[in-house]
Amino acid sequence: MSVYLDRAFSPAKLGNLPLKNRIIKAATYEGKTPDGVPGELLLDFHKDVVAGGTAMTTIGYCTSEADGRINDQMMWMHEGIREQLVHMNTELKNTVPDAKISGQMTHCGNFSKNRKLQRLSRPLGPSRQFNMLGAPAGLPFAGAMTVTDIDYLVQTYHDAAKFMQETGFDAAEIHFSHGYGLSQFISPKTNRRTDEYGGSLVNRMRLPLRVLEAVRSAVGDDFPILGKMGMTDGITAGLQFDEAIEVATMLDQGGIDALICSGGTSSFNPMVYFRGDTLDKGLIEAEKNPITKLGLKLIGSKMFRYYPYEELYFLEDAKKIRDQVNCQMVYIGGCSETDSVERVMAEGFDFIQMGRPLIKDPAFVNNAMGNPSYKNGCIHCNRCATLIEAPGGVYCPLNLEARAS
Ligand SMILES: Cc1cc2nc3c(=O)[nH]c(=O)nc-3n(C[C@H](O)[C@H](O)[C@H](O)COP(=O)(O)O)c2cc1C
Ligand code: SF4
Repeated sequence: MSVYLDRAFSPAKLGNLPLKNRIIKAATYEGKTPDGVPGELLLDFHKDVVAGGTAMTTIGYCTSEADGRINDQMMWMHEGIREQLVHMNTELKNTVPDAKISGQMTHCGNFSKNRKLQRLSRPLGPSRQFNMLGAPAGLPFAGAMTVTDIDYLVQTYHDAAKFMQETGFDAAEIHFSHGYGLSQFISPKTNRRTDEYGGSLVNRMRLPLRVLEAVRSAVGDDFPILGKMGMTDGITAGLQFDEAIEVATMLDQGGIDALICSGGTSSFNPMVYFRGDTLDKGLIEAEKNPITKLGLKLIGSKMFRYYPYEELYFLEDAKKIRDQVNCQMVYIGGCSETDSVERVMAEGFDFIQMGRPLIKDPAFVNNAMGNPSYKNGCIHCNRCATLIEAPGGVYCPLNLEARAS
């Protein structure tokens, strides 16, 4: 095994948390929490990931409050699921005692089709805006948060982080990207506020930094906090790379343990973070709401711009961020070959997050450690990403087809 593969598959510390190797499962909301409850479906998916040698898995969409959910099947951190979360995390550790578990902390902000709102009458973001995702579900407009709403949101992150720590998570990943709540504040496209939470980047970062501070105060210094940030929104009036470098340095100075650099937004340009085949065809097929289906047919090809897939598509930009920060760096984006793992390690990144490669083969690590010519087989068709609302949630259809033939 080469020196860099050996580095990838050797123990390392994320902050103060020992990991048995440097491969982390990326957050991929799997649609496996029916009615918001983390049960056997979610457990079985992540059992395969940890059993396959991945050092730490990440549970996607640990939403900080009920109204932070994009749809009503997502879970949110509250007492009603304490028992199930403890069971899931205990079982994962019973399966592989040295496996670690992170939870991605999210809030949808203005991008929601959740009709089971509890506290609010409509989704709220930094500024008033048309809610494209919610319109077919009868939630066409999102409102602007007041400062009281912002204070409340910060508190929900604090309480959710504490709850996650109590229920057996080993780390928390704050989602600052992909067009969700906190990223809507960072982006000049969606944040048109004129108070201390809008305007300059310092103001647009005020809420994300308050959230980081609140999560840190909830979990203490030994509990790693990762941050997934955007390097660009991929739209003209959105976040651009020059400001993203400043975002990274602010999060670094704010005490983040590790940064994961992604890009794009689910609302305006998701293919920036996926690359490869566009999602419109699969989503049209899977969509049950006739209005959403029609909308996708009409504007899907504009929403899902085609970017050809290439391995390590974020590497060059992520290296520029790496050079500006002191925190640890987690590479994400198209690392699905062992050659790519070697290259990322050679570039000095501390960890690698993998999404689709581990959906294709949850035993990537064990297989690659045992066989230097291991091939993952993910073809970046993105069919899995169109299945988040399918019965049973996300899986790789190629695997199913291969088993059937
Ligand atoms: C099915 C699926 C669901 C995803 N859900 C999330 C999510 O909940 N949060 C997130 O930050 N990214 C999500 N992503 C994006 C991945 O975390 C990752 O950024 C992207 O897939 C690129 O990494 P990869 O090339 O290793 O797959 C999702 C991706 C897929 C395929
Ligand atoms: S469906 Fe399978 S092959 Fe296609 S992107 Fe997802 S994991 Fe990869």
